[in-house]
Amino acid sequence: MAITTCVFDAYGTLFDVAAAARQAAAEPDFSQLQGTWPALAEHWRQKQLQYTWLRAVTDAHCDFWDVTQDGLDWALEKTGLAGDAALRERLLALYWELQSYPEVPDMLRALKTAGRATAILSNGSPDMLQGAAASAGIEALLDDTLSVETVGVFKPDARVYDLVGKRFGCAKENVLFVSSNGWDAACATGYGFTTAWVNRAGEPVDRLPWKPAHILPDLKGVAELSDQI
Ligand code: LAC
Repeated sequence: MAITTCVFDAYGTLFDVAAAARQAAAEPDFSQLQGTWPALAEHWRQKQLQYTWLRAVTDAHCDFWDVTQDGLDWALEKTGLAGDAALRERLLALYWELQSYPEVPDMLRALKTAGRATAILSNGSPDMLQGAAASAGIEALLDDTLSVETVGVFKPDARVYDLVGKRFGCAKENVLFVSSNGWDAACATGYGFTTAWVNRAGEPVDRLPWKPAHILPDLKGVAELSDQI
């Protein structure tokens, strides 16, 4: 068996990061989001990620909860919602209980049945990841949840990807790393993992020196792919 260990990015891959804004928009108290929630969610996500990269290259680490709040504050101002304290509080609370994509539990169960180790490897802080995994009900299907907080730098720093080999004692090529972030899958290929990019939105491949080894439309094919590699 070439793939012994399947490792997943968390936000956007297992957990639907747009769910917080979408859910708030459906609540009577936050009808101001009805037209703007997709733009708010997109700005929030993009700024959150940009801040992780900028903090990594400038050696100015903070935890993912801080960049999540900073990204939200930028996005609220951009969409004309700055100063709405109740909305801010609700969106942040929803981030702790993001829905997982519907296929996640069955996919993880199939990997466990096939005898593979499963883990999250995420920028998220340990408490954020525990909250999300618990609310999605997938804790028992994961052998571990690895957080960048162990090394104090965000992806795609190689010290983050090193956490997998340290935890599971496996070679890089025996790891299938799965991410919906094209840049994360590409950089993990550069690191030496076998990679799958989950391209739900049909986006172009990132122009980087490395490419994801496999591209999937969602997570349903992960167990089968692990068997075939
Ligand atoms: C994570 C972000 C990159 O979970 O989605 O690491």
